[in-house]
Amino acid sequence: MRRMPRAALWLPVLTLSALAVGLTTAQSQGAAPSGDPLAIKAGPPDALHGEALTGSCQGCHGPMGHSQQEDKPSLGGQVPSYTTLQLAAFRAKLRPSPVMQAIAAQLTDQDIVDLAAYYGQQTPRGPWEANPALSAKGQQFYNMGAVERNVTACVVCHGVDGRGNNELHIASITHQSPKYTLEVLHEFKSVPDYHIAYPNAMHIVTAQMTEDELSAVTAYLSSMGSSDMDKASK
Ligand code: HEC
Ligand code: HEC
Repeated sequence: MRRMPRAALWLPVLTLSALAVGLTTAQSQGAAPSGDPLAIKAGPPDALHGEALTGSCQGCHGPMGHSQQEDKPSLGGQVPSYTTLQLAAFRAKLRPSPVMQAIAAQLTDQDIVDLAAYYGQQTPRGPWEANPALSAKGQQFYNMGAVERNVTACVVCHGVDGRGNNELHIASITHQSPKYTLEVLHEFKSVPDYHIAYPNAMHIVTAQMTEDELSAVTAYLSSMGSSDMDKASK
């Protein structure tokens, strides 16, 4: 039941993040507009300080951000720009999650940047188990998309290894649990179409995908690198 409210609130997060990206890219525009609830002002990231703060995160997100619980996302290996934005969104109460909103409320801007740096330096957790046939189908879709339906291949944005891109704010998506990944894909699919390329990228991609395709890419993402087929192609 957590899915609908989160989907409904994805828009302000996406719009503001796109704005923030636009502003940092266009240097000439100067500082973020005042009142941007997602604005972060911090010194250089200090991963050691970030690590010192993770004592309270481990119980849910696992040591080094390697989650062992299928309803908790892994944070290890996530791109810092994505982690920073999510923590800012929880703190601004723009992304729903009573637990994370309460936790993020305790964090300063510097804490957020330092936590993001620490998790960004960790390796992603190992693969979850998946049905090999389903995963192979998902791998095909990940790399090829569906040209006839205008579905861009996931690999174009998320990369061959699924590790995303920090500068472009593209999330690392390997080795999240199948449950969590499928939920997130459904959320993207169910937000309305705003007809803007960047923040709406994931909606545009998932809108054209069938349930079978969503299940297949989910199986592939959560178990990436673990199938023989994958090893053979490395
Ligand atoms: C009591 C359990 C719990 C604790 C403790 C906790 N989290 Fe979370 N965290 C969650 C859950 C559950 C979610 C998924 C929220 C959702 O999407 O509804 C989450 C989501 C996140 C996300 C978003 C990840 C993504 O891929 O979008 C980040 C970042 C995060 N937590 C960071 C932290 C940090 C940093 C700490 C410690 C300071 C922490 N969490 C402590 C339960 C917890
Ligand atoms: C045009 C670029 C683009 C393409 C193509 C793309 N993505 Fe994404 N994806 C993004 C961006 C940007 C984000 C971060 C969105 C956000 O939450 O702000 C993202 C986020 C995600 C997330 C959420 C990560 C998390 O921790 O919450 C998943 C899962 C995902 N993508 C899977 C896929 C899959 C599967 C495909 C192919 C079917 C795909 N993406 C194709 C750009 C893309």
